[in-house]
Amino acid sequence: MSNQRPAMLVFVASILLPAAATLAGASSGRSVSLPSCPDKCGDVPIPYPFGIGTHCAATSLSSYFNLTCNGTIDPPRPMVGNDEAVVEITDISLEHGEMRVLSPVNHICFTLDTTFTKFLGGYELQLTPFLPSPSRNRFTVIGCNTLGLISGYKGTASQYVAGCYSYCEGVNNTTEGAPCAGMGCCEAAIPANLTSFGVKFEMNQSKVWGFNPCFYAMVAEVGWYNFRQQDLVGRLGFVDDRA
Ligand SMILES: *[C@@H]1O[C@H](CO)[C@@H](O)[C@H](O)[C@H]1NC(C)=O
Ligand SMILES: *[C@@H]1O[C@H](CO)[C@@H](O)[C@H](O)[C@H]1NC(C)=O
Ligand SMILES: *[C@@H]1O[C@H](CO)[C@@H](O)[C@H](O)[C@H]1NC(C)=O
Ligand SMILES: *[C@@H]1O[C@H](CO)[C@@H](O)[C@H](O)[C@H]1NC(C)=O
Ligand SMILES: *[C@@H]1O[C@H](CO)[C@@H](O)[C@H](O)[C@H]1NC(C)=O
Ligand SMILES: *[C@@H]1O[C@H](CO)[C@@H](O)[C@H](O)[C@H]1NC(C)=O
Repeated sequence: MSNQRPAMLVFVASILLPAAATLAGASSGRSVSLPSCPDKCGDVPIPYPFGIGTHCAATSLSSYFNLTCNGTIDPPRPMVGNDEAVVEITDISLEHGEMRVLSPVNHICFTLDTTFTKFLGGYELQLTPFLPSPSRNRFTVIGCNTLGLISGYKGTASQYVAGCYSYCEGVNNTTEGAPCAGMGCCEAAIPANLTSFGVKFEMNQSKVWGFNPCFYAMVAEVGWYNFRQQDLVGRLGFVDDRA
């Protein structure tokens, strides 16, 4: 059995709306679409300035408000992005100025001397009206004996690198319900205005590969990490093809 589709976690994006564009419904927090435009895609309300298709979205503000409703999935899901990258939207709240999207989990799986599978993604948000919300997201790294790094740019000029180190000697060092505080899991805050970012690992798997076959790193909503760490591989939907 194998599952190569990267697992997904929710990531919260702030929606940057021009002050002048306190558009219909935004101030009241009500979800309103343009007349004769779909107000939902599947279960997800689509409030203007978002819309499904050119004439339903405020494309003069940003082409990224032009969503597609992906009907090949049941229920249909709204997608945002362009030819280069699309992500699935799970929720839009104009009241909070936030959009929640599914973000792939970065991971690297290995044996003693081979990288087995790898997914290291990133985001380029410079041209979009979205930024990661610093208060609603954390950079989280899971694994024994790995430094997870997030690097990118704040605005156009200021380069940014941060990360955290997660260590454990054995699988028994990670316990059910333990906080994400360095033993098998660590977290770092996300700065404001992080317009692009990617993830990488500085690692030496020689001591851990026998009991810890993968490392994970993600920018994800605060509070998602509250389950047994030993279950992570199963819970995120990865299947260890070597088993
Ligand atoms: C809006 O999205 C549709 C479907 O992807 C596309 O055909 C159209 O060109 C887009 N419009 C703009 C202004 O980007
Ligand atoms: C719709 O979803 C399917 C299944 O996740 C995906 O393969 C496809 O690329 C999506 N289409 C668009 C236009 O996003
Ligand atoms: C964010 O970056 C943009 C582009 O460089 C800059 O104009 C803006 O002032 C920055 N905002 C903050 C709060 O740092
Ligand atoms: C961590 O794991 C190692 C090796 O399995 C073990 O010797 C050690 O006692 C554990 N420490 C804690 C605090 O559980
Ligand atoms: C981990 O704990 C279990 C149960 O307490 C024990 O059977 C096992 O030997 C321990 N493994 C290591 C490597 O310490
Ligand atoms: C990885 O760690 C092992 C054992 O701690 C060490 O012998 C080896 O030199 C390290 N490899 C690298 C590339 O640092």
